[in-house]
Amino acid sequence: MTLFSEIDSQNIPKHVCVIMDGNGRWAKTLGKERSFGHQKGIQSVQNILKASIKLGVKYLTLFAFSKENWDRPKYEVNMIMTLLKKSIQKYKNDLIENGVKLNTIGNLHDLPGNVTKTIEEIKDVTNKNEKITLTIALSYSSRWEIINLIKKMLIEHQKEKFNVKNINEKMVNNYLCTSNLPDPDLLIRTGGEKRISNFLLWQLAYAELYFCNTNWPEFNKEDFYKAVLEYQKRERRFGKIN
Ligand code: IPE
Ligand code: IPE
Ligand code: MG
Repeated sequence: MTLFSEIDSQNIPKHVCVIMDGNGRWAKTLGKERSFGHQKGIQSVQNILKASIKLGVKYLTLFAFSKENWDRPKYEVNMIMTLLKKSIQKYKNDLIENGVKLNTIGNLHDLPGNVTKTIEEIKDVTNKNEKITLTIALSYSSRWEIINLIKKMLIEHQKEKFNVKNINEKMVNNYLCTSNLPDPDLLIRTGGEKRISNFLLWQLAYAELYFCNTNWPEFNKEDFYKAVLEYQKRERRFGKIN
């Protein structure tokens, strides 16, 4: 029995975001190092990507590494960077074959050069894929993104590229890292915390929020379908009256 059959195919969230949390705590419960949790978490990424494709989700955005995560112990940061590079290389053909377009948000220049290079290569080869856009947030934080946006807008304003009275939501969207993505419909956070942790603060304005206690390494397709079913029960009003 799978929850897949209960999902209404007419009401699939177009853009799903995930704060993949709980890797370290999950490993600790098994008496293992935090790195074991990060490694195991890659399998969950695979599973959730497959489930998204099966459902017809068009955009899947995963928070993999925040600006604040750089302040973790150096060995953990190094381990995550190495894992990132190896995993993207390992799944390269899978991404190509499944029509996945790889995209990133955040400051890729903060990452070690060889990691950035690998990511850019795979973004290039998957650029024409259309089944799903998989966006990985790497060295991303929403406040950083907003500060960047203010800087860019001020510079362009100085060059008289726009008039202040013409600033609107659409224009602001164009200055965000997510300018090529629609607003998220559903945000899932695993690992039990009920917070946003500096993720997509502007973009999540009207997303449905779903928090679950399952740690990311254990989050499977059925958990994902459960989140989508919960989403389908919500009435989205966007401030209006139905
Ligand atoms: C999420 O899991 C992955 C990253 C932030 C890189 P954590 O590493 O935050 O695991 P917990 O939340 O400490 O258990
Ligand atoms: C959020 O998780 C960032 C990622 C999942 C990449 P954190 O573990 O960094 O968030 P806090 O510290 O619990 O808020
Ligand atoms: Mg965490």
